[in-house]
Amino acid sequence: MVVETPLKGNIGDSIKRKEDDRFIRGKGNYLDDIVLPGMLHMSINRSPFAHARIKSINTAAAQAVPGVVAVVTGELLAQHKLAWMPTLSGDTQAVLATDKVRFQGQEVACVIANDPYVARDAAALIEVDYDVLPAVVTPQQALQAGAPLIRDEKEGQKDNHIYHWEAGDKAKTDEAFAKADRVVKLDTFYPRCHPSPLETCGIVADVNPATGHATLYMTSQAPHAHRTLFAIVAGLPEQNIRIISPDIGGGFGNKVPIYPGYVVATAASLLIGKPVKWVEDRSENLISTGFARDFHMSGELALRNDGRMLGLRVKMLSDNGAFYADAQPTKFRAGLFHIVTGSYDLQAAHVETDGAYTNKAPGGVAYRCSFRVTEASYLIERLVESAALEMKMDPTEIRLKNFIKPEQFPYMSATGFEYDSGDYPRAMQLALDKLGYQELRKEQAEKRKKGELMGIGVASFTEVVGAGPGKHYDIAGLRMFDSAELRVHPTGKAILKLGVKSQGQGHETTFAQIVTEELGIPAVDIEVQEGDTDNTPYGLGTYASRSTPVGGAATAMVSRKLRDKAKKIAAHLLEASEADIEFDHGKFFVRGSPSKSKTIQDVAFAAYTNLPDGLEAGLEGVTYYDPPNMTFPFGTYLVVVDIDRGTGQVKVRRMVAVDDCGVRINPMVVEGQIHGGLTEGFGIAFMELITFDEEGNCIGSNFTDYLLPTAWETPKFEMGETVTPSPHHPIGAKGVGESATVGSPAAYVNAVIDAVGHLGIRNIDMPVTSDKVWAALNEKGAAE
Ligand code: CDP
Repeated sequence: MVVETPLKGNIGDSIKRKEDDRFIRGKGNYLDDIVLPGMLHMSINRSPFAHARIKSINTAAAQAVPGVVAVVTGELLAQHKLAWMPTLSGDTQAVLATDKVRFQGQEVACVIANDPYVARDAAALIEVDYDVLPAVVTPQQALQAGAPLIRDEKEGQKDNHIYHWEAGDKAKTDEAFAKADRVVKLDTFYPRCHPSPLETCGIVADVNPATGHATLYMTSQAPHAHRTLFAIVAGLPEQNIRIISPDIGGGFGNKVPIYPGYVVATAASLLIGKPVKWVEDRSENLISTGFARDFHMSGELALRNDGRMLGLRVKMLSDNGAFYADAQPTKFRAGLFHIVTGSYDLQAAHVETDGAYTNKAPGGVAYRCSFRVTEASYLIERLVESAALEMKMDPTEIRLKNFIKPEQFPYMSATGFEYDSGDYPRAMQLALDKLGYQELRKEQAEKRKKGELMGIGVASFTEVVGAGPGKHYDIAGLRMFDSAELRVHPTGKAILKLGVKSQGQGHETTFAQIVTEELGIPAVDIEVQEGDTDNTPYGLGTYASRSTPVGGAATAMVSRKLRDKAKKIAAHLLEASEADIEFDHGKFFVRGSPSKSKTIQDVAFAAYTNLPDGLEAGLEGVTYYDPPNMTFPFGTYLVVVDIDRGTGQVKVRRMVAVDDCGVRINPMVVEGQIHGGLTEGFGIAFMELITFDEEGNCIGSNFTDYLLPTAWETPKFEMGETVTPSPHHPIGAKGVGESATVGSPAAYVNAVIDAVGHLGIRNIDMPVTSDKVWAALNEKGAAE
């Protein structure tokens, strides 16, 4: 039953989420809810070492456990050419280790048994004889001459360097720096963190030995792309593979890569002839699946004495772990290169970025951001804050002086990307007004006189979301378009099928609203289906906030296609010429006489019962939409903190978030998305961290060490919105899901720096813990 709502569900209506009805009753259908007849269970034996040569693997004890059906090793997979698989970044990754293990937690062998606990106990009995090698735990160490070679199996790989990318104009940037009155520098680090969705990753692989058909229930953010990659890796005919991504309990980028567990479970089901289920536990998820960030960044900003920015130089070094498995379009460091210049009008910029292999888990995913946007946005906002501090300027003044002006859009950035639209001063002004900025600055000045530490942090971010266009953006060669198929039934009810896949974003509601807006069918009458590759049109999936700008656009376009056909039928019913038919909110009428009308439901019925001669029956269509450009949401976030001098404890007093994601389809859903992002941003700024000791042991492999914020710690948010529609999008919507995580970490850290900057403390890396702040205060002799 769907909650009754007086709203029809047009764009702009905050109707309740249709899907929540089943979720709040515990009736969702998640991966672990799937139970098939005769299903076996898989457990993985993982490496305890970060870097070690495998001398031998003895599976006899595991095999002897009653209930164990099979033990799979890399050697067995190698016989089927499945010991290695391609990654989303064009590298290779071990499915099960054969020669060496290269990170702690790497998959070494799998046990398939008739019970999950038997599988797990038996996996622990597998004896692996390791020859431990020195571990490389930082990218700087990795690139030193003579560092242990991690990828020694790769032909031609002589060191641990992975990639070098550049963007912008070096000569022009050098010129800008030569003209500058001053150069502000910042070295900073965006630490490794983990998307940690509530539901971990898993698969139920069901390969029918008689037909060769493989039905794979998978926690996948990109089921269609995964099906194609599975077909290529496993050599199965693509039409025989059906991936079903059921309800997903959060993805945040973590469910984009293909993990070894998926591949082994599928191979095992194929070899054994029974369904095989594999579901990670929490620690497995934290230590072995796609982490995020881990970027060492240094930036230089060239400025005139009046605060006008002239140029930007950036060097970044990313720690990619043992296999380069980033989810990343192939042509450039997407996100990072797009918005490294932030919201600012810069004449010149030059960015260099390198990656290195280390003995850590692979998979730099877009953790609730559009590829590397968060890292880039953090760097530029921290740099601008440093410049304001050094030049004794108000952090809002320096930003206002340098913002790209509304009339400059579409704006070509110094790194060569076109920003579609924006009004940065308006978003900032609204945030300042909401906060009561000037009053708080006065309070801060008073407090400073008394030696109290209060800070106000600013971050004005620009996001880039909605990949494609396909000619510039592809994942593993697959162009980044997306699709929508709409079928209106005779009674006027509809089914919308999409190539994207919700992991909790509320697509079943918001995408229905797009159809409501375009065709006038109430949202409650539109069923939205996603995630089943046999029953939805091909798409690249949901991550990096691309669903609304691409899948949402496809939905609007297919609705318009149907509206055009419906007009022909309406003309027939109204005995008028098609050219005279007008449409408004679900009604077709003859121009000038709105009382003589037919509803979309009348027309839908006629599409199956009473058609004009020569017109095909039915009311359905499909659209594959390739956007002409990305969309660029933006916003300004303000944070007020109070710091205890004695303990270094940082208390967030206020957090104001003004976001602009163009036209909001469902404002309540958008606010929920932003709440999630702001919570994550807070977590990253103050709590979340995965580190490694010098032997490569992962510290942060459980929720006692890896601190996720709960409602208890998370500060309240005060929200505001401006609306600057995207000129490219058929309904003017920009994506939003990621923005808050992009903007808020810098706002939080800038607030801390604002509180302590006058004492000469210019930089504190995330997570900003009390002991770090206390140590910094102590070093300056400022602690009590
Ligand atoms: O790709 P993903 O669904 O993660 O991100 P998104 O496209 O930014 O959308 C997140 C959720 O917010 C979806 O349910 C969207 O339909 C909704 N949204 C909206 O209602 N209005 C917007 N302008 C943008 C997103």
